[in-house]
Amino acid sequence: MKLLVLTVFLYLIASHISASDPSPLQDFCVADNYSKVFVNGKVCKDPKLATANDFFFAGLDKPGNTSNPLGSKVNPVNVMQISKLNTLGISLARIDFAPGGKNPPHTHPRGTEIITVLEGTLYVGFVTSNPENRLISKTLNKGDVFVFPEGLIHF
Ligand SMILES: *[C@@H]1O[C@H](CO)[C@@H](O)[C@H](O)[C@H]1NC(C)=O
Ligand SMILES: *[C@@H]1O[C@H](CO)[C@@H](O)[C@H](O)[C@H]1NC(C)=O
Repeated sequence: MKLLVLTVFLYLIASHISASDPSPLQDFCVADNYSKVFVNGKVCKDPKLATANDFFFAGLDKPGNTSNPLGSKVNPVNVMQISKLNTLGISLARIDFAPGGKNPPHTHPRGTEIITVLEGTLYVGFVTSNPENRLISKTLNKGDVFVFPEGLIHF
């Protein structure tokens, strides 16, 4: 019984420790956007060929066009826009909303999200997992920050 308890305890610790991204084995892995090889992420291009533009994106100051049925526009900055985001487990986005605009409920199964409001007022929330399924929501104002925990449905 003692051994079983110890095993379960070690298993819990181990599963907790392995629940984060692994440390990178190199300075960076700039995505080779044209490789046809499939790996967990994108293939690295030769680090000697990396340039400043692989680490750069311009244009997040420009408002998105919200003239659409949702009244919102997401401008993502992920590995498709900055090749160097490959393997880092992080990305960024700008979202513009028309008055009354929406970003419907969705999830990022492997990503926690943190947002801040630059202008206006935004009603946000997420739903906890089964069996509770509790809505945790709040109205945010300019300067407020809110977190959507990994994997939970949010809007
Ligand atoms: C915004 O999108 C609408 C609908 O697609 C289009 O008619 C309009 O010209 C766009 N406005 C700008 C500034 O691009
Ligand atoms: C990578 O390819 C996609 C589509 O094939 C393209 O939309 C994107 O702009 C490319 N990204 C870079 C950084 O070249």
